Amino acid sequence: MESVRIRPMREDDLTAAEHVSAVTFLAGDRLTRRVNEPEPEPRSAEASRQWIKRMRFFLSIDPGGCWVAEDSGDVVGFAISQNRGPLWYLATYGVLPDRQGKGVGSRLMDAVLAHAQERPGLFSSTVHPAATRRYRLADFFLYPQMRMVGVVDRSTIPKVSGLHEGGAEDQEWMDRLDHELRGSGHGPDHTFMRKSLRLVVSRASGRHGYVYIDPDQGRPALLAAADPETAQRLLWEALAASRGPTLVNCITSANHWAVDVGLAARLDIGQEGYLALRGMAEPSPYLASGHFL
Ligand SMILES: CC(C)(COP(=O)(O)OP(=O)(O)OC[C@H]1O[C@@H](n2cnc3c(N)ncnc32)[C@H](O)[C@@H]1OP(=O)(O)O)[C@@H](O)C(=O)NCCC(=O)NCCS
Repeated sequence: MESVRIRPMREDDLTAAEHVSAVTFLAGDRLTRRVNEPEPEPRSAEASRQWIKRMRFFLSIDPGGCWVAEDSGDVVGFAISQNRGPLWYLATYGVLPDRQGKGVGSRLMDAVLAHAQERPGLFSSTVHPAATRRYRLADFFLYPQMRMVGVVDRSTIPKVSGLHEGGAEDQEWMDRLDHELRGSGHGPDHTFMRKSLRLVVSRASGRHGYVYIDPDQGRPALLAAADPETAQRLLWEALAASRGPTLVNCITSANHWAVDVGLAARLDIGQEGYLALRGMAEPSPYLASGHFL
């Protein structure tokens, strides 16, 4: 592994890094697929474009958190993290399957943790044994995540009131709410998300909350609220937007309010991966975004 160099990511690495990511996560999904789950599909061309767009954004905001592993000019691994004020998060991390288990991942993790400089941090982790081993050894606590899956029984959807379409004018209080729940606002991540996701907000005093809804897949992508009742109304709004099979992800045990909504909508409880946290409490009422945490 002497020939593998860990170095800052550059704009011209994006296409190669995306390819490494697609290959790595497809192999990882195949490895951890349960017998009753469908065969994992290769990443679509549109998802590849979105990946590159997101990584370009991370590079433009906090390039010091973005690293690749290179061997003889080829990208063989990547670790993309970001500092947002006093908070650090890991957006994505992988090493090509045939290069795993040789210390490359550990070196990439050392690079992004050095960038974090002891900040509290969080990310959504797969169940890959090398990943979970490395995270716990780096002092992250692992909180198992539930997910609600299935098709919403539309007869169960209640009439939800007091919610509005959100916009740039909401960002100030949204960042304050983020700060209370996770120690820092999403800042520029909100601007990025607003461009491709629908934002629904509750602006009532003491009952603030927001949810981003993926308009193509009709599923919640990130939800934060001042209280569980507001969180439930926002989640119902997101479920009402779903078409066909849906997914509510990143539900930790402090967020059973989301399980209750999912069960009422006749979704099933599944389990997938961990929310990894260091130096911070489990955010609640909160459903993290896999990409922006
Ligand atoms: C997670 C990942 C990036 C780690 O990269 P890697 O190059 O394989 O990691 P390393 O070789 O540095 O190993 C890290 C630790 O895990 C251990 N490990 C490696 N492969 C392992 C395996 N298959 N089973 C159990 N432990 C393993 C190593 O021994 C090492 O621990 P140690 O330092 O105490 O000996 C890589 O395995 C990967 O890309 N996995 C698939 C994608 C994924 O799940 N990414 C994480 C997203 S949150």
